[in-house]
Amino acid sequence: MLLRPISLADTAAIDLVAERTRATLIEVEGEDAGGTMYSMDWLRDRVRWHLDGRAAEVVVAEDANGDIVGQTIYRIESDAGAHSAAPFGLISTTYVAPKARRLGVAQHLLARAEFWFRERHVLLSSTWTSETNRPLIALYDRNGYAESERGPNQLTQTMMVRLTKALIP
Ligand SMILES: CC(C)(COP(=O)(O)OP(=O)(O)OC[C@H]1O[C@@H](n2cnc3c(N)ncnc32)[C@H](O)[C@@H]1OP(=O)(O)O)[C@@H](O)C(=O)NCCC(=O)NCCS
Repeated sequence: MLLRPISLADTAAIDLVAERTRATLIEVEGEDAGGTMYSMDWLRDRVRWHLDGRAAEVVVAEDANGDIVGQTIYRIESDAGAHSAAPFGLISTTYVAPKARRLGVAQHLLARAEFWFRERHVLLSSTWTSETNRPLIALYDRNGYAESERGPNQLTQTMMVRLTKALIP
């Protein structure tokens, strides 16, 4: 498996990442809420926003045939606000195609995000997900993350949990 950060020039990959971000929302929030939460244009713009000179990466995982089977987006949040005194790493989204699940793809993507944060001396990593997302919570749990905060999603009222881990320098 190859992990590849994409760029603004990679329009086909941007489209695919946006489509699969929508698939993620549907899987987590259900067809009605997840499918209508954001337009495809908004989702594509959101992918591009991460690639537009920010401290962020959009990474795809390719299988041996060159097919994209997984993706993740992460960034450094400098405006830490009430969460932390220092900038922290935020893993915004992760998705693995159903046919490629339980093969360690998400584990590789998470390890890359943590490595990238560490390289930039960002020693706190976190993500948000629905409290009912057992696969994702199990993945983060085995990587040493613990719940640090919870609250309802403003759009859907789904109860969300923040999973956080201190990274070892
Ligand atoms: C959550 C998700 C990203 C996991 O991807 P994956 O590539 O299948 O995960 P991995 O193979 O790397 O799993 C690593 C470990 O995580 C845990 N895990 C992953 N999926 C699991 C599941 N369905 N049930 C229980 N534990 C799970 C296990 O500990 C697993 O290790 P194991 O297979 O040796 O038991 C994938 O199921 C997915 O894309 N879900 C839909 C999208 C989503 O919910 N994204 C997050 C939105 S915030």
